Amino acid sequence: MDSFQSEIEKRIASVPENPDLCQAGDNFMFESIKTKYSYNFEWLGRPIIQYPQDMVAMQELIWSIKPDLIIETGIAHGGSLILSASMLALLDYTDAVESGQPLDPKASRRRVLGIDIDIRSHNRAAIEAHPMAHKIDMIQGSSIAPEIIAQVHEYAKGYERILVCLDSNHTHDHALAELEAYAPLASKGSYCVVFDSIIEDLPAEMSSDRPWGPGDNPKTAVWEYLKTHAEFEIDKNVEQKLLITVAPDGYLKRIK
Ligand SMILES: C[S@@+](CC[C@H](N)C(=O)[O-])C[C@H]1O[C@@H](n2cnc3c(N)ncnc32)[C@H](O)[C@@H]1O
Repeated sequence: MDSFQSEIEKRIASVPENPDLCQAGDNFMFESIKTKYSYNFEWLGRPIIQYPQDMVAMQELIWSIKPDLIIETGIAHGGSLILSASMLALLDYTDAVESGQPLDPKASRRRVLGIDIDIRSHNRAAIEAHPMAHKIDMIQGSSIAPEIIAQVHEYAKGYERILVCLDSNHTHDHALAELEAYAPLASKGSYCVVFDSIIEDLPAEMSSDRPWGPGDNPKTAVWEYLKTHAEFEIDKNVEQKLLITVAPDGYLKRIK
């Protein structure tokens, strides 16, 4: 490992020993969530409900894993689907550059599959009109309905490197059911990313208008899932690097 890389690793590993830095990150999360900061952004023209830090983490994961399929629950306006699709398009571009073959976007098998219980017609129309649409398929239905789970598993057959992102209903039971349904599709070395685990760390009144809250959210679901699934571990490196993330304990790496 070169010294630049080892310095980065040392710096990230030492983050927990710096309470002021950790507190600054926590303060930013707390204040920014109050202002609905995560709704401020777009990815290639589509609203994406994410923090920029998590978007960069997804870029790093996709570049290193080089998935041929990304499965996402929770589409909303489509921004995260477009982000994933655009990263897969960059992998296609990279293959073309490295192989010297002409780039044929429609020939690539890399795809994104999104699942949402309610794909609003204006969002569907905008996603389908986007230049990345040819890389995206969408299924409407509850992500934990048995027939939807079966459709996703059928779709995933034949793909070799799968990345999974869970970002739909954030109750414990729902997130746990999604983990049981979709985490097994994540390939060894890949990830199942569970968003909005930050709910566990926020005051209850910040989610008082929601069915989830502290004690009942994706982080508690992750903790329960991991009790019986040693094939995954929390990649603390990601959150220590980001400092600002909606997914603390949510970057699950499949290690076996
Ligand atoms: C936080 S938004 C997703 C944001 C999106 N991933 C992004 O980054 O822009 C949550 C979405 O989950 C969807 N949802 C809620 N309950 C669901 C369920 N049972 N199954 C599938 N999707 C669901 C909602 O309709 C909503 O569009």
